[in-house]
Amino acid sequence: MAKQLSTNDLAVAAAILRGGGLVAFPTETVFGLGADATSPDAISRIFKAKGRPSDNPLIVHLAEFDQLNEVCEGVTPIAEKLLQRFAPGPLTVVLPKKPCICSAATANLSSVAVRFPSHPTARSLLKQVALPIAAPSANRSGSPSATTWQSVLRDLDGRIDAIVCDEACALGLESTVVDCTDNDTPILLRSGHVTLEDLQTVVPNIRTLGSLTSVAMANSPGLRHRHYQPRARVRLCESMVELADDEKPRSAYIGLGSDSLTELGLVQLCTSVEDYAMNLYEFFRRCDASGMEIIWCQRVPERGVGLALMDRLYRASDRSG
Ligand code: TXA
Ligand code: MG
Repeated sequence: MAKQLSTNDLAVAAAILRGGGLVAFPTETVFGLGADATSPDAISRIFKAKGRPSDNPLIVHLAEFDQLNEVCEGVTPIAEKLLQRFAPGPLTVVLPKKPCICSAATANLSSVAVRFPSHPTARSLLKQVALPIAAPSANRSGSPSATTWQSVLRDLDGRIDAIVCDEACALGLESTVVDCTDNDTPILLRSGHVTLEDLQTVVPNIRTLGSLTSVAMANSPGLRHRHYQPRARVRLCESMVELADDEKPRSAYIGLGSDSLTELGLVQLCTSVEDYAMNLYEFFRRCDASGMEIIWCQRVPERGVGLALMDRLYRASDRSG
């Protein structure tokens, strides 16, 4: 059984991490499953607990900017500019790695992904540990990320040492990941709450994966794997579709708006794209818990946070991988 810690118990959580244990903790995006990024044993336990393919590298979390030089070989000027503008916060930069980060954490890549979370609990824990902490999202591999501690426990209890119980994550989608290893052309590998438009104000020439070759795609291993999928089938729609009466009790809907959809099994009406993003994964989990077979998800325009939301919806609805 995982120890359930409160935000007053961060010294206990830090001691577990320093001893090579696994601790789930909240961040502003989703819950992370932390372990010492310099310990091959601790890192192998993360992959085992999640059932994560070993070729999918982890993000290293830091509290202080001056720790960056301990884990990265050369901080490119572009990475520095991005971090100055968007960190601490939901931005991850990929840079050349230093040997102290164990190779299993980065799936043997020569680069390392680094993020400075802004969540006060995460920051305080990272400060107390004073080690680089690798933390993938705290869910079973392939499932939706967990945005509440209860969802973390449902996925990982019995497989991890402790969890820091705190409020639900405010943003609800994983961080924006930017490959900064080539200083001339940064590449957006995963969209998030630091939006493409935000990034373009600092690096107007940033490329997106749509314009990349398969060689470049191979550098973003996370994209090869099945992601964010509930058990129920996810279908995208422009607005609520007409359903036969016998389908309604097993169908769910999430989207913007205030239409009354009372005959459906589960409905989540969101007040904004941000609200939709915050609620999406927990809604997927509620749908699975109550035996929904189809989850209809309303499309949103692919700009701002809508780009990240649609990215996750496409992946959740893709049954090919
Ligand atoms: O918001 C977040 O980023 C959360 C919280 C816990 O910080 N973490 C998270 O981790 O979403 P995870 O493991 O679920 O996703 C990490 C993503 C994957 O797509 C992975 O392939 C990519 O980052 N990544 C990690 N290291 C990389 C590297 N060296 N080069 C390219 N992509 C990398
Ligand atoms: Mg994940």
